[in-house]
Amino acid sequence: MEIVSTVSAARSFLKPLKRAGKRVGFVPTMGALHEGHLSLARTLRQHSDVRVCSIFVNPSQFNDPKDYEAYVISLERDAGLLRREGVDLLFAPSVEEIYPAGYQTTVTVSEVSKPFEGALRPGHFTGVASVVSILFNIVQPDVAIFGEKDFQQLSLIERMVHDLKFDIEIIRGALVRDADGLALSSRNARLSQDGRTHALAISRGLFAAQAAFKQGLRDSARLEELVVESIKSVPNPVIDYVSMVDEGSLAPVRSVSGRCRLLVVARVEGVRLLDNAAFDPARS
Ligand code: PAF
Repeated sequence: MEIVSTVSAARSFLKPLKRAGKRVGFVPTMGALHEGHLSLARTLRQHSDVRVCSIFVNPSQFNDPKDYEAYVISLERDAGLLRREGVDLLFAPSVEEIYPAGYQTTVTVSEVSKPFEGALRPGHFTGVASVVSILFNIVQPDVAIFGEKDFQQLSLIERMVHDLKFDIEIIRGALVRDADGLALSSRNARLSQDGRTHALAISRGLFAAQAAFKQGLRDSARLEELVVESIKSVPNPVIDYVSMVDEGSLAPVRSVSGRCRLLVVARVEGVRLLDNAAFDPARS
């Protein structure tokens, strides 16, 4: 695996491969890799000839500068994991390489950015859309994978790729859970043993809602309530939102009649945990 940190080195590596007709696949990350990221890199193998990952902790998507400063990654560890997954190129640029002096362009996906994470983290999605556009322009992938765990981010990228006519196929990477049900996230490392046990109430609630859905329950408020009840059963829960939305528009729905997602964000020990589950009447 080649590791490069400049735009010109990334382009020099990729240009001859693209010219030779190779299909380039891309997984952008912010490092601190876990099995969820690695499963995306693995999926990429089935869809591309040349596999590219980026590790860039993007300052413009942190609405709280303290979170940015506290975000620690080990490039050596992450590079080792990607090498084992058969990644061909790791692009790990500096902040100055991506945002040189004088940088002033942003990309905003207006509607998808408004609710949920967008409302709670002003500017976050403009940071994401902008950096992903820059990375897409550098790597020029044929295919890119984004995980379903950050479902609103995935919707935003799909919308942006469609609207800006990027010639890139976006593949949805399945959400990966630990054996106990907790959705994998770099943030899980910040939980104490007890916090981790309490955090399981989130996935337990989602599984309860899915079971009720299988039994025929379609009312969104009642399905949401099963998740809320589960989370409220642990000490000091803070629920940011629990909302059944249409998969396409992310608009809240009163009843599940088409493909929907139940989006959940709760804080355990001050750690914001995102989770979601699919609800599809055609598949139940
Ligand atoms: O999901 C992430 O890790 C980031 O938001 C992304 C897509 C790499 C952009 O910085």
